[in-house]
Amino acid sequence: MNLDFTQMTPYIPYMLEGIWVTLKFVAVALLIGALIGTLLALFKISGPAPLRAFAIAYTSIFRGTPLILQLMLIYFAVPQLTGYDITPFLSAITAFGLNSAAYISEIIRAGIQAVDKGQVEAAQALGVPYRAMMKDIILPQAFKNILPALMNEVITLTKESALVSTIGYLDLMRRAQVVGASMYRQFEPLLFVGLIYWVLVMILTLIGRKIERRLKASDIR
Ligand code: ARG
Repeated sequence: MNLDFTQMTPYIPYMLEGIWVTLKFVAVALLIGALIGTLLALFKISGPAPLRAFAIAYTSIFRGTPLILQLMLIYFAVPQLTGYDITPFLSAITAFGLNSAAYISEIIRAGIQAVDKGQVEAAQALGVPYRAMMKDIILPQAFKNILPALMNEVITLTKESALVSTIGYLDLMRRAQVVGASMYRQFEPLLFVGLIYWVLVMILTLIGRKIERRLKASDIR
């Protein structure tokens, strides 16, 4: 076997820097996705017909086409259409944010609709006003349904973020390729960042589990 990790040592700090690049990007994309996703979920649940139709069409398009295609469209087609030379970072957060919004809107919609109908009926029977019912009865329960799926989305985004390497954004994945190309050895850097992705996802999984356990504890009184 021909494996030699010693050659890679000088490049390790360069690759480790990719962790922050990747995490920063995922965090921003997630924030955009959560904001737009919440809005879309509200449109789907209780919006007027045109907004509901818009939200449904939006989800269908962004879930129905490959994320890498959306990314390329934004990065390569926006300059052609507008003359604006969009940066890889801006293209990446736009594509990932818009894409994630479609998935998050479904997570939130399903989470709210999964709350037992009896909860609404009981609140109405007691004369609880709509806003208070949503804020104090429905949404806290919906949140527990939503959390595991949302954690899943965070993990998916973290791994899918490697796609941005295709437009030259210097994330973890791209850095491994750059290092591989300059050493004429691909295996070691790829294995190295692979390990980093795995550790990142494990940490996210643990955080998710912890939050879930805490929420569950509040169920038992
Ligand atoms: N690779 C898949 C695609 O191209 C996954 C996208 C997942 N996106 C998400 N936000 N969960 O469509």
